[in-house]
Parts: sequence; structure tokens; C-alpha cells
Amino acid sequence: MPKPVLLVTRRLPVEIEALAAQDYDARLTASDTAIADLLARAEGADAILCCPGDRMDTATITALPDRVKVIGTFSVGHDHIDIAAARARGIKVCNTPDVLSVATAECAMLLILSAARRAGEGERLVRSGEWAGWAPTQLLGTQVSGRRLGIFGMGRIGREIARMARGFDMEIHYRDMARLPPDLECGAMFHDSDDSFLPMCEFLSLNAPGGDGTRHWLDHARIARLPGGAVVVNAARGTLVDDAALIAALRSGHIAAAGLDVYDSEPNVHSDYLTLQNVVLLPHLGSATTETRDAMGRVVLDGIAAILAGRSPANLVS
Ligand code: DGY
Repeated sequence: MPKPVLLVTRRLPVEIEALAAQDYDARLTASDTAIADLLARAEGADAILCCPGDRMDTATITALPDRVKVIGTFSVGHDHIDIAAARARGIKVCNTPDVLSVATAECAMLLILSAARRAGEGERLVRSGEWAGWAPTQLLGTQVSGRRLGIFGMGRIGREIARMARGFDMEIHYRDMARLPPDLECGAMFHDSDDSFLPMCEFLSLNAPGGDGTRHWLDHARIARLPGGAVVVNAARGTLVDDAALIAALRSGHIAAAGLDVYDSEPNVHSDYLTLQNVVLLPHLGSATTETRDAMGRVVLDGIAAILAGRSPANLVS
């Protein structure tokens, strides 16, 4: 029996490409950027394995060949896929939940520490060759330990950040649609309104999904309600932030520092961020560890296989 055809939109870890080639007639690519001719290459494919940054919008999904039955995304976030359009075409979607929570939370902690302790500026100073040695007033940051951390979006990644931040004696507050059960809350304080939540956030970590419901959630009005000198980090989706508002607050000093791993219109980065010293910028590294990317590949391939076999896997999105 011929193997099902799997179209892969970007180069994958070696082990995952080998697994894909073992179980599928896999159309692999050597490119780290999105393939340009997705629709042409999808001809005859049973499944597509795509990535964040591949725009699986209404027009693309509507134009997919009838034979495509599954879109698996090499990510937990699926805001790049028009789920309603996929449903309308009878195409199932699956993703990679759970396996990247620790790596992404580590990245958020990296941003919290780097932004608060001015690690980007320090690194640039050393590399410039102009560092003149230790000085009592040099690059003073703000202490993380013992401070209040607000988490917007207390899903799997948010809860993992809370667990790690407790190791820094941070007091955890969170904002979400509903309160978590006590065993998941682990003492974190739930806020059912921005009014009570935002003033608590000496540190604010954005961990909600992207999409229309959260677009530009961190805007001028919400930033104004954060305590002066707050630190903001985003390892979730760039669309959560109104860049102009955050840039103005970083300039005025109302926000002392920010750490960003994700951007609206990725890979384009608002050019004003590049001029600001008090923002740490990473290139969407959240899940970028070897172990995690291998695990993500296995989860999404398992999901695709289950769907093609008529089952409903745990990582089914829709
Ligand atoms: C995701 O999975 O959604 C990340 O943004 C990429 O790892």
C-alpha cells in the first residue's frame, strides 16, 4: 500500500525528518523559510506539516486540494491557521501542546532576568571593547527576587513560569478567563479584572494565545495602569502588544525594561525597538532546544498519523 503523502513546509530536526520519511511519502525541504509554492506542492498531499509564520489563511486553505485531510503545526500556537476555514473544508488541525512548556517558560525567565538586570546592555558593552571595569553605579538593574510577577494567561506555559518564578521568591498573580483549581493555582492570586491585576504587576509576563481576542491587549491604557518601573516580557505572540504604546512607555521610563521573543508581523521587528537600550530582543527562541523540537516533531507526527487513521488524538485542535 502506498504511504500517505506529507508536505513539510520547512526543514525539520534530522530525527523528525527521518521519522517523516519512514512513515510517509514525505515532501521535505532544505529551507528554514516558508516554501513559496505551497499550493502547487500540496497537490496530491494527504497532510501538511506547517510552522508558525506559514500563513494558512482563508484563501490558502480554501485553495488546498481536496485530498488534504490534516494540517499539523509544528507549534502549540495555531493563530497562523484559519481554523474556521479548515473546519469548513473538513480539514483537521493538530498541534504540539505540553512538550514545549518548560522550554518556553525558561525563555520567559531568561527575558525577565535579562531585562531586569540589563544583560543585553552589559553584553553589548563588553563586546564593544569599551568596558572600563567594575563601577558602583554601572548598569544598575532591578532585583527580581521577592517581587510580584503578573502572568496574563495561566495555561500550561504560564503555570510553568509561575513554578520557576517561585524559585526566585516571586509572588505570583494571574489574569485569565477563569480561576484555576487549587492544585494548579499553587497559591497564585487570581484576578478577575484588569483593574485589580495590572497595578500588581511589577513584572508582567504575557502568555495568552494570539488571535483576534487578544490583539494589542497590552495597549496604552493597560500600560498606564502598570506600576511605574514595571518590566514587561512577551514569549507568547507579538500580536498581544501594541508596539507604539510599549515603545512610548519604554522611552518615558514608565516601563523600565522589556524582553521580547515574539513580534507583530514576524520576522519584521518594529524599528524603534532597535534604537532602545532597555529592551532585550530574541528571535522567537521560546521552544528552541534540541530536546523540545524533537519532542514537538514526534507529537505532531503522531497527531497527523492518528487523524489519517480516523482517530482523534489528544493534540487535536479542531
Ligand atoms: C509555538 O509553539 O507556538 C511557539 O511559538 C513556537 O515554538
